[in-house]
Amino acid sequence: MTFTADLIEKFNKQITLELEASMVYRQLAIAADAQDLSGMAEWLRHQADEEIVHANKFIDHVVDRGGDARIGAIAAPGVDSELTPVQIFDAALKHEQKVSEAIRELYRACDAAGDLSSRPLLNWFLEEQIEEEATVGEIRGQLERVGDDGSGVLRIDARLAQRPAETTENEA
Ligand code: FEO
Repeated sequence: MTFTADLIEKFNKQITLELEASMVYRQLAIAADAQDLSGMAEWLRHQADEEIVHANKFIDHVVDRGGDARIGAIAAPGVDSELTPVQIFDAALKHEQKVSEAIRELYRACDAAGDLSSRPLLNWFLEEQIEEEATVGEIRGQLERVGDDGSGVLRIDARLAQRPAETTENEA
């Protein structure tokens, strides 16, 4: 038995962290919406939904392996109410970096326990985190580049509005 109680507890923490990430994105969407940046708000809400998909992937993994999947206490997003667009994506990037480190920690713990069965899932997440950080970082960089140029911010906002809606179900 490599899927130990200790590993299950660590997976449960990751489930909670993914749901926390969803709440952070939802709060950041509110900050964007308050500034009439509806495209940005929509993008952030889609991202919030994607975090639920991530939580579901971890939940499925725990349940499929006979573990007791448990959602822990979810911390309040702790996002300031008045953030500039750059600060919104800066906060998102910092949270993604926190999630990436948590997944790397989980990977190390599974490796140390000889739990090979978690590898495919964790490999998927390692790749996904590279993509998430790159995407959020790119938007942040573009917003920084346009600075106070309102028409530049609105162009980025219009592009972000084009992100297609996703299901919150784990389809993998
Ligand atoms: Fe599930 Fe954006 O990390």
